Amino acid sequence: MRLPFVLFSLTAAAAAVAQEDEEKRCDGASYKVPCADHPDIMALQTTECQPYHVLLARGTDEKPPGRQGNITKMICERLGGAGNCGWENLDYPATNRFISDDTWCKSADVGAKNGMKQVREYVEKCPDTKMILLGYSQGASIVQDMMGGGGGPAFKCNQSMNSGFIRSEAPGANIAAAATFGTVRKCIGAPYSVKSGRKTEGVATRSEEQCYGLEPYANVLRDYCNENDYICASHGKAPELSFHLTYMTQYSEEIVSFVVDTVTGKKQKSFMPSIHLISDHYWLTGAVFFSLILSWSVLIFWTTIRRRLGQAY
Ligand SMILES: *[C@@H]1O[C@H](CO)[C@@H](O)[C@H](O)[C@H]1NC(C)=O
Ligand SMILES: *[C@@H]1O[C@H](CO)[C@@H](O)[C@H](O)[C@H]1NC(C)=O
Repeated sequence: MRLPFVLFSLTAAAAAVAQEDEEKRCDGASYKVPCADHPDIMALQTTECQPYHVLLARGTDEKPPGRQGNITKMICERLGGAGNCGWENLDYPATNRFISDDTWCKSADVGAKNGMKQVREYVEKCPDTKMILLGYSQGASIVQDMMGGGGGPAFKCNQSMNSGFIRSEAPGANIAAAATFGTVRKCIGAPYSVKSGRKTEGVATRSEEQCYGLEPYANVLRDYCNENDYICASHGKAPELSFHLTYMTQYSEEIVSFVVDTVTGKKQKSFMPSIHLISDHYWLTGAVFFSLILSWSVLIFWTTIRRRLGQAY
C-alpha cells in the first residue's frame, strides 16, 4: 500500500528538480529571459571574421541575445568555440504590437532591412564564412523575410514589402543553416516546417511568392511550430503562452544537432522530406503496403491452385 505514495513522492521530487532546473535556465518558459546575464554566452558576441557566424534575431521585447542565447552557445561550442564561432545581435527594436497598431510591422520591417545589411556587410568582410541565422517569434519572421522576401498584413498592420537574398550568390549563398521558432508570418506545411503546428494557420501567412523564395533554403532550414502556439498556429484561440515559450527547453539538443550537422555537411539532405512524406501520407504508405501483401497472397494462392490443377490432370 506504500508503493503509490513512494511513486507519488518520487514524481513530486522529480518535478521539483525539473522546476528548479527550469528556473536556472536562461532559455526557459518565462517571458523575460536572462541569457544576457551569462558571461559565457556574452563572451561569444563578435563581428570579427570567423568560420561560423550566427546572426541572432531575438523575439519581441527580448533583451539581446534573448532565449536563443543558450543554443547559440551550445552550437558555437560544438563548432570549435570562441575564435571559430560567435554571434551578432540583429539590430532592431523588437517592439510589441500593443504600443500602437503599426508598431509591430515597423519593427519587423526595420529588422528585415537591418538584418540583410548586417549579413551583407559581414560576408563582404569575411567571404568564406558560414552564416547561421536563428530567429524567434518576431525574429523568426524576420529571418524568413531576409531569406525569402517579406511584408504584408500581420496583426493590425501592413508590413512594407522587401525582397530576400538571392540563394545562388553571396551573401545568400553563405547561409549554411537557419532555424526559426514560432514565426509570426509562416508558410503552412512547408517541407522544412517541423512539429505539431506545421500545418496550422498562424497570425499571418506568407504569400506564394515569399514561400517560393524560401524553397531554395529548404535543405538548410527548419521552421519549428508547436500546435497551440497562438503565434504560429491556432490563431484566434485563447493565448496560452507556454506553447510559444518552450522551444528551447523542448528541442535544444535537436536544434543544436541540426545546425551543427547541417553546417558541417553531416546531415543527409533528403532525410526530412522523406519523413514528412511517410507521416503526411501514412494512408498512402499503408495502401502500398496492403497492396503488396495482397498481390503476394494472390500469387501464392494462384501458384498453389495451378499446382493442384497440374496434379489433377
Ligand atoms: C542550456 O541548455 C542546456 C541543455 O538544454 C541546459 O542544461 C542548461 O541549463 C541551459 N543553460 C542555461 C544557462 O540556460
Ligand atoms: C500592404 O502594402 C502593400 C505595399 O507595401 C500593398 O501592395 C498591399 O496591398 C497592402 N495590403 C493590405 C492588406 O493593405
